[in-house]
Amino acid sequence: MSRENSYVSIRDVGKVYPSPHGEVTALEDINLDIHNHEFVSLLGPSGCGKSTLLKCLAGLEKATKGEILIQDQPVVGPPDDMGVVFQRDILLDWRNILDNVLLITEFRRLDRSKYEDKARALLGRFGLQGFENRHPWELSGGMRQRASICRALLDDPELLLMDEPFGALDAMTRDDLNLELARLWQDTQKTVLFITHSIPEAVFLSDRVVVMSRNPGRIDEVLQVDLPRPRHLSVRESPEFGAYVSHLRQRFAQLGIVHGD
Ligand SMILES: Nc1ncnc2c1ncn2[C@@H]1O[C@H](COP(=O)(O)OP(=O)(O)OP(=O)(O)O)[C@@H](O)[C@H]1O
Ligand SMILES: [Mg+2]
Repeated sequence: MSRENSYVSIRDVGKVYPSPHGEVTALEDINLDIHNHEFVSLLGPSGCGKSTLLKCLAGLEKATKGEILIQDQPVVGPPDDMGVVFQRDILLDWRNILDNVLLITEFRRLDRSKYEDKARALLGRFGLQGFENRHPWELSGGMRQRASICRALLDDPELLLMDEPFGALDAMTRDDLNLELARLWQDTQKTVLFITHSIPEAVFLSDRVVVMSRNPGRIDEVLQVDLPRPRHLSVRESPEFGAYVSHLRQRFAQLGIVHGD
């Protein structure tokens, strides 16, 4: 893919963290372009630098080498036109769900009244109608993650970064949310960078799967997934889907990384 039509351009990025035990090279030689409206997954073992890369993209960490451009502009801090769902949901326990979703209106000094209907509609879409006045501790893990996604979507960002949003959920809830995310992407055509440990999840959702290896975190392979869209969960029973999954499993086995799912 050419750099010219990229929404995100990651060029020669490296990240070294200082630590009391010496430096940790979290990322090395990362080159990746993400197209407008593309769904790209980062797939790799624990510690390969997935969250680090997402934080560099979100302007929360600074790469020690290389550059990251979003719409041709270098990332220097958290951009406005981006929604982030973090690895651990970071809902504020003392605010109800509606107020959690509306949080960015305060950070960005937006008119809350203009966003309230939108917040309610998003909560409805993600099955949280009737929970607007509940607090995060009254919700299940899946519901909390749904609320986090609503928060990330509130200002309709073009770019959505998601760090293992479904990692802690049971298989059925995860299937539901995979489907809802696939539908959302289909309807809104956002550009998505999605992090996961799950090979089937990555194949189901993605246009391309970026395979990462660790020590240091590098890109090993980028796999194009040419399954037809829109995708229903039944696509997972198809031989084509099985072939992508088995290719990725074999690649991780060759890298000496065992994948449980
Ligand atoms: N703030 C930090 N200071 C020092 N080292 C860090 C820091 N954050 C991450 N690291 C190190 O960088 C490497 C990559 O970490 P990162 O969290 O990006 O991995 P990950 O692929 O997201 O892992 P996981 O799948 O477990 O979430 C690890 O070796 C980690 O210990
Ligand atoms: Mg991580």
